Amino acid sequence: MKDIVVSGIRSTGNLHLGNYFGALRNFIKMQDENNCFFFIADLHSLTTHPKSEDFHAKVRQVLAEYLAAGLDPDKATIFVQSDVPEVSELYTLLNMLAPVGELERTVSFKEKVRKQPDNVNAGLLTYPVLMATDILIHHATKVPVGKDQEQHLEMTRMFARRFNSLYESNYFPEPTAYNFGTELVKIPGLDGSGKMGKSEGNGLYLADDEATIRKKVKRAVTDVGPSVENAPMPEAIQNLFTILEAVSARDTVDYFRDKYRSCEIRYGDLKQQLADDICRVTLPIRERILAITSDANYIAKVAREGADRARSSASKTLSEVKQIMGFKPF
Ligand code: TRP
Repeated sequence: MKDIVVSGIRSTGNLHLGNYFGALRNFIKMQDENNCFFFIADLHSLTTHPKSEDFHAKVRQVLAEYLAAGLDPDKATIFVQSDVPEVSELYTLLNMLAPVGELERTVSFKEKVRKQPDNVNAGLLTYPVLMATDILIHHATKVPVGKDQEQHLEMTRMFARRFNSLYESNYFPEPTAYNFGTELVKIPGLDGSGKMGKSEGNGLYLADDEATIRKKVKRAVTDVGPSVENAPMPEAIQNLFTILEAVSARDTVDYFRDKYRSCEIRYGDLKQQLADDICRVTLPIRERILAITSDANYIAKVAREGADRARSSASKTLSEVKQIMGFKPF
């Protein structure tokens, strides 16, 4: 049987190479095999108070970039969270099943309290309830989640169980994590350590133009080079090879690995090759991003049709939930 997959996409931040070889690859695979709901989580983004002037533009840009990179509205239901008002209504109902103490102990909440002590709003506290709503409203059975979202998924299962037991129903299925096993490639940044996107300025974006990509790759952190044969590789160099492995042909990677082993490597050549191959992967996507961004009718059509489909699934759930909870029309 097909799984129902739900995944929210943050509406802040442009797509970078790490997203492309990570989450996005998996989305593309999933949309072929399952009944997928992918949405831009714009309500969630309000917890950090984005400027109203930029709000819509960011949602639009993220949507355009995901479409350009391969999300297909003919295969998956792609929509904007706030276009489905049923989400907000079910969120209200599920909030009644969420003990404050439990929410306060959520790792992501505690982190936000540390990071933005001047803006500890109730939306941050109930962020996991909104995310559970996104998932449960389509009866998702699978949710692709990274490490940082695992607790939220665990809480989603708890809300589902709690609803089912409180109302003596077997209404909500308990969604599980979509497991990609070892296939998941983690793309590092260009600043010597850590994941791409973790810190400012270490990312290569799908919307970057050629000059920007070449400049960023040229500036990537390296070292003085190996001085003995078969020297172990420091992290910064390993990182360049990890990106090379993602974008280049096998024999290209082997060639540079051999050069490293024999201490003949020239980082200038490695970077040149890396920049060439990154451009080969990303520039066609950049072209599509520009084309989609300038096609207002197309974006509007995708968003409208996605919202229609999401709403028909969501409104069915909402009315069933209300009936189970005891709401009745007069
Ligand atoms: N919280 C997720 C993140 O920060 C985004 C998200 C919102 C989500 N709702 C979701 C992910 C539902 C999966 C399912 O990345």
